[in-house]
Amino acid sequence: MIRVLFVCLGNICRSPMAEAVFRDLIQNEGLAGKIEVDSAGTGNWHIGEPPHRGTRKKLDEVKIDYSIIKARQISVSDLDQFDYVIAMDEKNLIDIHAIAQENPTAYIARLLDFVKHNPSKDVPDPYFTGNFDLTYDLVKEGCEHLLAFIREREQI
Ligand code: 4NP
Repeated sequence: MIRVLFVCLGNICRSPMAEAVFRDLIQNEGLAGKIEVDSAGTGNWHIGEPPHRGTRKKLDEVKIDYSIIKARQISVSDLDQFDYVIAMDEKNLIDIHAIAQENPTAYIARLLDFVKHNPSKDVPDPYFTGNFDLTYDLVKEGCEHLLAFIREREQI
């Protein structure tokens, strides 16, 4: 099983959206038995909460399920248990590297690192911008490129 963890700050806006979108892609491509997905936040403020109302509204609009998602905080062991740890922005990336052991086994990157033509590699935080439509567009494009990358790298 290949395990993918999406990480943002609060685990209520961007990374749960990425988790839901990526799981939907995996199911559509018949890879549900090969890839598992989860999300976590670097912060602890929202542990146990469902996704933010803006994320839920957008996912309802595009008919993607998020019913099993509850916020949790990233832990050191995630860096060994997940094969891909995917940050939403540079601050998340710095925070992930700060808790990682010297040579983490996980492949650590930002989601938009996989989208070559995109000049900015950060998914702006809709908790502050309110723009969940832009978040969805960037997350969807990032997830499609990430899945193509994983399929190629893992030969699946
Ligand atoms: P997220 O957005 O990292 O995309 O889940 C945020 C959610 C909550 C907070 C910050 C960002 N907060 O400060 O509570």
